[in-house]
Amino acid sequence: MSEPNYTTDAAGIPAPSDEHSLTIGPDGPILLNDAYLIEKIASFNRERLPERQPHAKGGGAFGTFEVTHDVSAYTMADVFQPGKRTEVLARFSAVAGEQGYPDTVRDLRGFAVKFYTEQGNFDLVGNNTPVFFVRDPMKFQDFIRSQKRRADNNLRDNDMQW
Ligand code: HEM
Repeated sequence: MSEPNYTTDAAGIPAPSDEHSLTIGPDGPILLNDAYLIEKIASFNRERLPERQPHAKGGGAFGTFEVTHDVSAYTMADVFQPGKRTEVLARFSAVAGEQGYPDTVRDLRGFAVKFYTEQGNFDLVGNNTPVFFVRDPMKFQDFIRSQKRRADNNLRDNDMQW
């Protein structure tokens, strides 16, 4: 009995082989109608996700958020009513540093919580700056770019940063 075929395409349809492309005869040309081959090439070309612009480096944990005090005087949101428990994902991040950048370099920090509420997902973000650094979002991209590596030499630039 032959081995079961566990190779499928992205739609779950069995693929003839994950090792060999379809050819015309044992040594013939490879065929464009090998849909599995084309899919494998296409997904390989797209498998790298571009790094996030700000907050590229971070780590997170799943947990449960529980409302331990009565804050119903300030909010009627269901997720913040006394005793309510909600699954959350918390993520701590640096801001300007790319993935792999040292934690020891001076940088802001971000804190993000995703609440999986009964009414849908609720995202809450925080930064450890006492005042957010721009008022007008039109300036955000230029400012963040000034904190990151230069495109021409791949180095940080103190003049630009400060
Ligand atoms: C000018 C307004 C703002 C702009 C244009 C902006 C833009 C961005 C962008 C582009 C990202 C990356 C998203 C991604 O790639 O998934 C991000 C993430 C983040 N932002 Fe902002 N942001 C703004 C205001 C704020 C404010 C006011 C705070 C908090 C006080 C904040 C905290 C964060 C945090 C913590 C993250 C990371 C979220 C995570 O860990 O997934 N941002 N922001």
